[in-house]
Amino acid sequence: MGFFKLTIRDVPIDNHIVLVRADYNVPLDKDGKISDDLRIKANLPTLKYLHDHGCKIVVISHLGRPEGRDPKYSLEQVAVRLSKLMDHHVEFVDDCIGDRVTQTIKKSGAHSITLLENLRYYKEEEADDEAFAKNIAKSTGARYFVQDGFGVVHRAHASTHAITLCIPSVAGLLLEREYETITGAMQHPQRPLVAIMGGAKISDKIAVIERFVHVADNIIIGGAMANTFLAYKGVEMGASMLESDQTDTLDRIYHAAHEKVGDEVDTFIILPQDVAVAKEIAPKATRRSVGLETIESDDIALDIGDRTIEHIVATVAKAKTVIWNGTLGYAELPEFAHGSARLALALATQPQTASIIGGGDTADFVLKWDNNGGKSFTHVSTGGGASLELMAGDTLPGIESLLDARK
Ligand code: 3PG
Repeated sequence: MGFFKLTIRDVPIDNHIVLVRADYNVPLDKDGKISDDLRIKANLPTLKYLHDHGCKIVVISHLGRPEGRDPKYSLEQVAVRLSKLMDHHVEFVDDCIGDRVTQTIKKSGAHSITLLENLRYYKEEEADDEAFAKNIAKSTGARYFVQDGFGVVHRAHASTHAITLCIPSVAGLLLEREYETITGAMQHPQRPLVAIMGGAKISDKIAVIERFVHVADNIIIGGAMANTFLAYKGVEMGASMLESDQTDTLDRIYHAAHEKVGDEVDTFIILPQDVAVAKEIAPKATRRSVGLETIESDDIALDIGDRTIEHIVATVAKAKTVIWNGTLGYAELPEFAHGSARLALALATQPQTASIIGGGDTADFVLKWDNNGGKSFTHVSTGGGASLELMAGDTLPGIESLLDARK
């Protein structure tokens, strides 16, 4: 299914003031500096398109979850990075509404780029406040609004929803690409489609796992989430982290899987056959790969085991599409990143397989792992919650509110 909303290519945007919502909610290191700029880079095609069409570009975004005007979450350093990446001056204004915004934009010429300060310095942003959105529209004088912040379109905020009631609103090129890639892989995948789910909790990903039961040819479970699955199957997981309140969810998942594949359930939903354990979660902890029957009472499962890694790599080798969401172990510690690293390597060396990496922690992991900036994979999503909700088949307010392509 193609994209169903108007994009910047569909409207006479040339030489206008254009307000772009980006998601520059980038990870920061311990010194508060940008530690990964995937989200800034991903938005460049839209900015370059508008730049080439003579627009005055005004970009808005949030960063973090500040309580009021907290300098730790200022977008000023993003303006500096964006300016380098665009190879063009980016003017920064330390507010997102008001006279300073208006005057800066008035003084700027065609092809200019202005980045406004963090929207979440105002509580009205998350409250989807219409007066706040009107104020942004009036302060900037924008003729069009472009939604390109894929990572935030699952939120109904002033800059994803209320603003679209004030200015004609279309999608940017990143939003279009994310939508088409993710929904395309969910709806018309090249098969076999293998879904790989990891991360800490089943409860964060129930809707997606349930959807994969219907659309995937195999589901591989890793990460701490696998502990909960294994415990449900009666395995003693020692001191491992697990969710003991997910029995009903797992009953539902296994019931649906049984309806689909009958007695093949345990080859359809692939759980670890061994795990890598340690006695503590610490950088110096020793990795031991053990069979499920030999997990000791003080063992903590922190990664999939060696046999499981080989099994997953072999399963992925037969896939034409792989959607991966959630690391397979405690990947912050290199000793327990083996499973995720071997999977990343398998995908990176198998270019004939479409590899779609969900955002958030999985994207952070593959970007650190890949010295090719994520290009070793078909698609590294910039969305965390947004990509999960799109995979689950939900409608996202920040997309719904844009002008419909059919009208
Ligand atoms: C994200 O990082 O998932 C988006 O930028 C949304 O941020 P939020 O979860 O703070 O709304």
